[in-house]
Amino acid sequence: MHLAVLLVASVLSVGTLALDNGLMRTPPMGWLAWERFRCDIDCDQDPKNCISENLFTDMADRLSQDGWKDLGYVYVNIDDCWSSKERDEKGRLQPDPKRFPGGIPKLARYMHDRGLKLGIYGDMGTLTCGGYPGTPLDKIKMDAQTFAEWEVDMLKLDGCYSNEIEQQQGYPLMSKALNATGRPIAYSCSWPAYQGGLPPKVNYTQLGEICNLWRNYGDIQDSWDSVLNIIDWFFDNQDIIGPAAGPGRWNDPDMLIVGDFGLSTDQSRTQMALWAIMAAPLFMSNDLRTISSEARSILQNKLAIRINQDPLGFQGRRLVKEKSGIEVFWRALSDNASALVFFSRRTDMPYRYKTSLSKLNYTSGYYKVVDVFTQKGSSLKDSEDFVVSVNPTGVVMWYVSAPAQLNLRQFQNGGNMKGPADRRGDHRVLL
Ligand SMILES: *[C@@H]1O[C@H](CO)[C@@H](O)[C@H](O)[C@H]1NC(C)=O
Ligand SMILES: *[C@@H]1O[C@H](CO)[C@@H](O)[C@H](O)[C@H]1NC(C)=O
Ligand SMILES: *[C@@H]1O[C@H](CO)[C@@H](O)[C@H](O)[C@H]1NC(C)=O
Ligand SMILES: *[C@@H]1O[C@H](CO)[C@@H](O)[C@H](O)[C@H]1NC(C)=O
Repeated sequence: MHLAVLLVASVLSVGTLALDNGLMRTPPMGWLAWERFRCDIDCDQDPKNCISENLFTDMADRLSQDGWKDLGYVYVNIDDCWSSKERDEKGRLQPDPKRFPGGIPKLARYMHDRGLKLGIYGDMGTLTCGGYPGTPLDKIKMDAQTFAEWEVDMLKLDGCYSNEIEQQQGYPLMSKALNATGRPIAYSCSWPAYQGGLPPKVNYTQLGEICNLWRNYGDIQDSWDSVLNIIDWFFDNQDIIGPAAGPGRWNDPDMLIVGDFGLSTDQSRTQMALWAIMAAPLFMSNDLRTISSEARSILQNKLAIRINQDPLGFQGRRLVKEKSGIEVFWRALSDNASALVFFSRRTDMPYRYKTSLSKLNYTSGYYKVVDVFTQKGSSLKDSEDFVVSVNPTGVVMWYVSAPAQLNLRQFQNGGNMKGPADRRGDHRVLL
């Protein structure tokens, strides 16, 4: 399909309803404890890294003081192992009293005072994955109410210790229960990841109606293998899962591990670039107190964030898979712009990949191109061959802006996309 046709078709298809809580019209951004801090509850031996209120206030301080918040990273999200092993005498969830002595409302206030939001974790089932009290069907209303009273802003609902039928009932019930509290609480559903991530078991239309985001696939680990495995799954299944995404409803390939131990600089750029192409939630799971300036500059790349946060909410696609190991990804953006990522699976040396915008099915005309990671700009005619040098396991990422009228005129002329070049020479730069 031609890119412009694809874009128009996708914009029209956004008639599908999203969960009607007004939240997450662009992919959520923030920080989530799990991948980096797991279920470390040993506050005696490891006070800086254990799951405790200090960890979350530390991260909140860094988010608000080190430029993260201003770029959109506003969620501070608790994951598993926050609660006491027992519900309270009224049957309600309660935080571990030793590790969260101020309680969750105090933590929520701490976030709100700094313009941040607090996310919490629960599990549709008898226990959480870490063995803490879960939320079985008969506790859904009570737990939703508790989270709302605590002034929590987001809930991630995991799916350990429940069966298919309980999940089928529980995930929609929690959506209703959150709505009934009257507090806008964003809702992240791990449901599809427990059902293999694909139809017929997973109904993406339904997910878009009840959840703001959902985990389609397994947990990310701190390794390149894990990142590559996730990339392959998401783009191999792009025709199925891509159309499910849009404002208010997002596929979630899991946390950013940039700033941890498993990725090289090139691989870190690859994760950032392809998460932006996928319109993925950007939840970092790293230690913002000690993060390197190199990792920070990748995560704080304004153009990559702008691409991720594009208001159209179109989930990008893999266009090309070359035998050479080069893959090209593309995302349609608002203002008639687009993003391109050239990725190398090679393991030898930087590869000089030659192509042109017309080979990538761009309509004829002049384009302005900005390299996202070097900030270098240039102007390019669709038919002009260019060469990008792509490092092993790395990317070159472009923000491409186009003279838009051209696309429309050609679309209106009966969809003949390969129409004449813009004779008026109008290559207005949109950046
Ligand atoms: C609850 O749902 C209704 C309609 O579906 C919506 O208008 C309302 O904003 C929702 N409220 C909250 C708090 O999510
Ligand atoms: C998927 O969910 C939608 C919306 O809830 C529903 O209308 C549709 O029938 C479901 N599709 C299947 C195959 O169950
Ligand atoms: C370009 O469009 C043609 C015809 O629709 C299609 O066969 C080809 O795969 C497309 N190429 C890319 C890179 O999308
Ligand atoms: C984008 O293109 C559309 C039609 O192709 C045009 O109507 C619109 O003015 C363009 N937008 C901008 C910001 O140039």
